[in-house]
Amino acid sequence: MASARSAGTPIEFGGKIHTVIEATPEAFEGLDFAIFSAGGDISRALAPEAVKRGCIVIDNSSAFRMNPEVPLVVPEINAHALKNHKGIIANPNCSTAIALMGLYPLHKAFGLKRFFASTYQAVSGTGAKAMAELKQQVFAWTKNEAIEHNVYPHQIAFNVLPHVDSFLDTGYTKEEMKMLNEGRKILELPELVATCTCVRVPVMRAHSISIDAEFERPVDLAVARKAIEDFSGAELKDDPANKIYPMPLDYQGKVKCGVGRIRKNIAFDNGLALWVAGDQLWKGAALNAIQIAEEMDRQGILKK
Ligand SMILES: NC(=O)c1ccc[n+]([C@@H]2O[C@H](COP(=O)([O-])OP(=O)(O)OC[C@H]3O[C@@H](n4cnc5c(N)ncnc54)[C@H](OP(=O)(O)O)[C@@H]3O)[C@@H](O)[C@H]2O)c1
Repeated sequence: MASARSAGTPIEFGGKIHTVIEATPEAFEGLDFAIFSAGGDISRALAPEAVKRGCIVIDNSSAFRMNPEVPLVVPEINAHALKNHKGIIANPNCSTAIALMGLYPLHKAFGLKRFFASTYQAVSGTGAKAMAELKQQVFAWTKNEAIEHNVYPHQIAFNVLPHVDSFLDTGYTKEEMKMLNEGRKILELPELVATCTCVRVPVMRAHSISIDAEFERPVDLAVARKAIEDFSGAELKDDPANKIYPMPLDYQGKVKCGVGRIRKNIAFDNGLALWVAGDQLWKGAALNAIQIAEEMDRQGILKK
């Protein structure tokens, strides 16, 4: 399904050609579940209509994430929250989901108290038009032509923009507050404290996040590395002496997020610094939505 603009367009999936239909309330009749990824306004308009027709909605937008009636789920962390759903399940913000792939196993080991994060977010997080804009700017630069920008407020090629999403009165952006608010909800830690600076970088695909975290209990590097190794959502990529650390180029199209550069944080008593990279279109969005559907199936929630 897509907008009326795309209705009738052929699309290939699983070796078969399908025809795109317009997303209308009636289109959800008879469906077991639907994954929404068309922005908050569309979700707010169509998700309740789908639910009315018996269709479970897994929503990629931010429209319902902080609604207390709606579970916000990363299956490796809080799959148990799915059983309380009332028709809509929210898929978390991309940077938050990826950061938690590094933070959650460490939280289980040492008890997370607070964290400071900076993100390095790929242009694909803004959608297809932003990817095209970066490509065009790189071509224009190599030909010494004028560089134009429409999607971003400034040139993104050979630049970084400390600006993701819209600014709030506090000076934070909405994206930066998602790390704290969604992190608290997913980890079920209402007292968690976090601050984040979100930065757009000229990377096509996969976000990276630098994290400084403080824990309740003393940290141990061997225990921290083992916790990451044993966690199903992450892989340990941490051998700086051999120049091995997670990089976005290596994590596009990967199921697991990479965690590395783990070290004792000299700014805290019980602190760790770490670096996480992951595909925000996969773990940060589409893959997590599929994993939610698979987990609901496992729990018998999808069956009518
Ligand atoms: N990109 C990411 O990393 C990411 C991560 C997590 C969540 N999200 C969320 O996912 C959503 C989409 O992001 P995106 O990056 O995939 O954007 P995108 O590449 O611009 O795609 C938007 C899609 O929404 C469809 N659409 C627009 N209006 C519609 C309508 N009235 N009814 C049905 N479908 C409609 C479009 O269909 P047409 O082609 O017909 O216009 C298009 O397929 C946003 O809410 C975003 O916040 C994105």
